[in-house]
Amino acid sequence: MKQKEVQFVYEVYNSIKSLTKSDAALLENARKTTATAYAPYSNFQVGAAALLVNGEIVHGSNQENASYPVGLCAERVLISAISAIYPNTAIHTLAISYHNLNGDSSHPISPCGICRQSLLEYEARLKHPIRVIMSGMEGKVFVISNASMLLPLSFTSEDLK
Ligand code: THU
Repeated sequence: MKQKEVQFVYEVYNSIKSLTKSDAALLENARKTTATAYAPYSNFQVGAAALLVNGEIVHGSNQENASYPVGLCAERVLISAISAIYPNTAIHTLAISYHNLNGDSSHPISPCGICRQSLLEYEARLKHPIRVIMSGMEGKVFVISNASMLLPLSFTSEDLK
């Protein structure tokens, strides 16, 4: 028997003020994008903004539905939009924020399991890591250097061969 270890490293910043200008602008965009969420059921408005390698910035927000499972997270709305508008364009950095209308919005959130799977496939498809910036409307900011770190031992297209 062998034991293997997966290491997980992330950066922690006290606030948006400690980020580079470019990262701060992207996070600010994600924070503003929370206002475009359609989240009447959860009252949890999520915004995401991506800086593409071509310099474009695209944003997305969560879109819910009376039939709850139909709803889409901000990250997957964003990835789908990027894929459709700028086909085959890698994502350099993606920022995520949220506005919880029922409570606190001051700690970072990270993508849900389904979104982790989507981010992972986008990285693999474009052969480019996606930096991820995670925060709320204020407070601490987490940064990871690639999205696939969030999903070790993942299922990928390689497994289908
Ligand atoms: N949600 C996102 O959009 N992204 C996440 O990373 C976590 C959750 C959405 C899904 C749902 O519309 C609401 O937040 C509450 O779960």
